[in-house]
Amino acid sequence: MKEKNSFYVTTPIYYVTAKPHLGSLYATLLADTVARWNKLQGNDVYFLTGTDEHGQKIEQAAAAAKKDPKDFVDQFIPDYKNAWHMYDIKYDKFIRTTDSYHVRGAQALVTTLLDKGYIYKSMYKGWYCTPCETFVIEIGPEEQEIKGPQCTSCGRDTHIVSEETYFFKLSAFGDKLLAFYKENPNFIAPKERAHEVTSFVASGLKDLSISRTTVKWGVPFPNDPLHTVYVWVEALSNYITGIGYGDSHKTAEFNHRWPADVHVLGKDIVRFHAVYWPALLMAADLPLPKQLLVHGWIKVDKQKMSKSLGNAVDPIALQEKYGTDAIRYYLLRQIAVNQDGDFSIEDVENRIEDDLANDLGNLLNRMVALAEKYNCMDVAHQIVWSQAALDLRDESWNALEDFATHMNDYMFHHALARLWKFINITNAYFHGQEPWKIAKTDVALFREIISATCHSLRTIAILLWPVMPKKMEELLYSLGTPFKLEEHTLENLELNSWDKHFVLKKIPTLFEKPIRETTEGISMSQENVVAPPVEEKNYITIDDVVKVELLTGTIQACVEVAGSDKLVQMTVDLGGHGKRTILAGIKKFYTPAELVGKRGLFITNLKPRKMAGTESQGMMLVAQDADGKVQLVQFPEGVANGVRLR
Ligand code: MSP
Repeated sequence: MKEKNSFYVTTPIYYVTAKPHLGSLYATLLADTVARWNKLQGNDVYFLTGTDEHGQKIEQAAAAAKKDPKDFVDQFIPDYKNAWHMYDIKYDKFIRTTDSYHVRGAQALVTTLLDKGYIYKSMYKGWYCTPCETFVIEIGPEEQEIKGPQCTSCGRDTHIVSEETYFFKLSAFGDKLLAFYKENPNFIAPKERAHEVTSFVASGLKDLSISRTTVKWGVPFPNDPLHTVYVWVEALSNYITGIGYGDSHKTAEFNHRWPADVHVLGKDIVRFHAVYWPALLMAADLPLPKQLLVHGWIKVDKQKMSKSLGNAVDPIALQEKYGTDAIRYYLLRQIAVNQDGDFSIEDVENRIEDDLANDLGNLLNRMVALAEKYNCMDVAHQIVWSQAALDLRDESWNALEDFATHMNDYMFHHALARLWKFINITNAYFHGQEPWKIAKTDVALFREIISATCHSLRTIAILLWPVMPKKMEELLYSLGTPFKLEEHTLENLELNSWDKHFVLKKIPTLFEKPIRETTEGISMSQENVVAPPVEEKNYITIDDVVKVELLTGTIQACVEVAGSDKLVQMTVDLGGHGKRTILAGIKKFYTPAELVGKRGLFITNLKPRKMAGTESQGMMLVAQDADGKVQLVQFPEGVANGVRLR
């Protein structure tokens, strides 16, 4: 039996024909935010994501790359895992549909449907869209095979499929589905998306072809290995195989987690999730997911993002330039979850500068700087509050309530806009009180202003944690109330009681203002990068160059160097060259957590040197621009650790 506080959230599983792009990041980020929001409420959360690795689309892509399909998909998995790691996406399980437990589980589902009499064998003839893995339209066996229609979902050409197939009796579920939608009006969120689903079902459902004989790269159909299971049926079943369906040792886990509380998915795949999936589950006598969170599309230059258009945005380059939390915030705040949204670097930079650096980061900075100046870093709890502070407290309660309502409705952009209203109310309070004017003359009032601002910032940081986990942990650390999930659940963190004691700490600027420049390097395809002319001076010879041993490496671990405000100490994996301890003066630009997992270039034959009491056994290359901002120097994907640059 699913327990009350068990919360299960999933992402779509991604076709692995390439590295993840901004669209895949977006869906995964939404799910991570939902997961964290539920953790904050003390729920026992399970978050499943993964990859969709079978079917004609992958089979063809692998053939085009002259690779075995499994080797082909294997090469992209580290890219997915690395990208999710860089964005602090904390999934509980990464399912791959080539995993043997999934194959068994998917077969178990089909076997159940066979046993229950919902599957029969016949002939299928119709037009198929390989990029969408969709049967677009069925035609009669006698009809001429002239040019097929364009796919209703992606607009691309379709091709004819004419073969023996197993059908699922989808037509038997039309009325049951309509009744289910009626009884569960919140099943599809946002509600606007429900209409197309109900009218599709109401117009009459045809049975669904669920096997292919012409596609070899798939899950063998139970008792008929000439057929493979239609990739969508198999893919949808990941939501149950990922939590133990089909494994008799995992029945308890499955019953504890299923049904899913929310499946996150894009608007292009609603029909599969709102029609086929519930019908398959009804046929198998399994409970139905509670809700579908359907998001819109992120567009670039007003167009769909795609590899072929060359406008796919690279999440890795974005993270490296702007940081994890800034991009997390931008995507959730700027793009309305229920609509399509335009990606723009200008908006990213505006959001960072205005919302993050000016509104939020500066408030913390100014407050801590003032507290330090007037010796008020230890802010004892306040017994009596003046009216201005009580008004601010009431505002924080209202913000908390509204924020929670929007988050529970998955309207992240509304939740964030509402919270920013409160951030600006806090700014207005802090500046309106002019604490610097009374710091020496009315110490009690000065302390009250600092305390009230700290209480507001604490509420803000905790509510924002699901969206910007690392930065909000830094903020809470600066307030002297470090984040501990077990303490910071909305129920027990007593955001309503303003009785906290803060011990302030200075931290590096929370959000650096972006240095506004070109967008080169953000797009996945880099062209037209023109090198500036080199000044002809101070030449070195090739002999000088070859002296430098420059190796590729990955930062495996990283800590701050105690007593230094610049240095971090890294353990660097240099592949066949072993591991090194290397120090770098980049603390202002990266937190240790941000550095772990990053790859970089290291000079490894530099004479070891002691700094702040620790020996550095090399040097990391960074790029520092005219404004002093530092970024790690990267090297091409696919180059292993320990490779020497020449
Ligand atoms: N493999 C299927 C899903 C099976 S789930 C049982 C699939 N894969 S996909 O890789 O093509 O798309 C995965 C998800 O990414 C979809 O929800 C899709 O909407 C989303 N996105 C892909 N590009 C997108 C944007 N440009 N913007 C937002 N999300 C989009 O479909």
